[in-house]
Amino acid sequence: MNADLHLPPYAPRRVPLIGHAAPLVRDRLAFLQSLREHGPIVRIAIGPKTVTVINSPDYLQEMLTTKSRHFSKGLLFEKLKLFGKDALPVAEGSQHLTRRRLMQPAFHHRQVNQYLQTMHSTVDPMISAWQGMGPLDLKTEMQLMTQNVVMAVLFSTTPDRDTGHAILNSVDTLFAAALRRALLPFPLLERLPTPGNRRALRASRVMRTAVGEVIAGHLANPDAYDDIVSLLLVAGQADDAPLAEEDILSEVTGLLAAGSETTAVTLTWLFHELARNADLERQLHSEVDTVLTDEPLTAQTLSQLAFTRRLVNESLRMYSPAWLVTRRTTELVRLGDMDLPAGEDIVWSPYTLHRDPALYSDPLHFDPDRWLPERPQPPKGAFIPFGAGKRQCMGNEFAVAEATLITALIASRWRLRPVPGPAVRPVGAITLHPSALRMTAEARTSVGHHQGAI
Ligand code: HEM
Repeated sequence: MNADLHLPPYAPRRVPLIGHAAPLVRDRLAFLQSLREHGPIVRIAIGPKTVTVINSPDYLQEMLTTKSRHFSKGLLFEKLKLFGKDALPVAEGSQHLTRRRLMQPAFHHRQVNQYLQTMHSTVDPMISAWQGMGPLDLKTEMQLMTQNVVMAVLFSTTPDRDTGHAILNSVDTLFAAALRRALLPFPLLERLPTPGNRRALRASRVMRTAVGEVIAGHLANPDAYDDIVSLLLVAGQADDAPLAEEDILSEVTGLLAAGSETTAVTLTWLFHELARNADLERQLHSEVDTVLTDEPLTAQTLSQLAFTRRLVNESLRMYSPAWLVTRRTTELVRLGDMDLPAGEDIVWSPYTLHRDPALYSDPLHFDPDRWLPERPQPPKGAFIPFGAGKRQCMGNEFAVAEATLITALIASRWRLRPVPGPAVRPVGAITLHPSALRMTAEARTSVGHHQGAI
């Protein structure tokens, strides 16, 4: 290697042979946060592998925007190809660009406003069904809800509870396998018939069958649908850049995987914080009781739910669902004053960034009002739950609208109370979820509460 290169320094306490693997395995979230004190960009060793960790908004912005062409999506996304080869979140180069252009209009601001009615009519019966259901596993409930929203809005399909469960169990299994493979990069193990690999194969079959049925339904009755599946099917017949059936299956599966659990865990954390803070809960109830009426829920309604929206933002800050994101250099690249050799694995953690006391005052305090426009806002690039640049989340507006709507609808009807149990702690799997969160839905009795009309 060229001795003139200015490489990022290694973090201290690198142990021969294993590098920094021990603290990483012990507690990944704590370890990543501890790296902040070693500077804006540091290298760690995991066994023989070197990984560069970026902790500063400046380096991140440069990597994600002006220098983005020198980076591929990296280790985690390669492993996420388990969901389907070349789906948008994992596609590279011109293929990514073409597909993004094709699907982007379905996520445009105006289009998202058109989805509100369907989002509402999808989740309303699910929220009502909590009546008399006993303690809820909140993450699962939220997953079922957000998964149904993606399927209803984008695929015009609403699975029953059992099918919904089967799909979400498959997503969980595939996510777990992808993370395991990314953290323990011994590719040979991926092909052995281990119990974990067999589970992943079964889960992939369940996903493909469920998505295959959606596509078959659209093919059987093409005029009945106007959604993203029909958009992809029409593109499949185009002469210039036709999509094979396998591509369509991958894209639909990719959307389901990218769009369900992320929003679900945001909501789960939000209600966890709400149950710990009576004052925030009171403010939320007062807002929804004033804003929600028996009229259909519109973009105008959503814009009046300002406090609810701040709660969503604060959950995205403190509990950033995509807590770990990766890239890999495709060639030697200079980032700020540092050189990164070709093939270098990069990671960053929005979770770490969003809890940096240099960027946020009192960062461990859940304070939705820090997002009031009159309060000082974090520096540019310091709030990136959806990433930035050309690979920024395509569903960001969809997710925020959906989370705001679901929060308001739940709060208009229920108070969620935690079932006593072990302390809730964050777990860094593919998404950042609570270790366990069981809650009971208590009916609200306040005057003037509305469920909102459809
Ligand atoms: C709170 C919810 C969500 C969070 C926190 C989130 C976060 C992210 C992040 C961090 C990325 C990758 C950025 C990168 O690699 O630089 C991403 C990509 C993506 N997300 Fe989301 N997401 C959410 C919800 C959704 C929803 C609801 C959908 C669709 C229904 C969606 C669709 C996508 C797609 C298609 C990509 C790939 C975009 C591309 O590579 O061009 N996401 N998301």
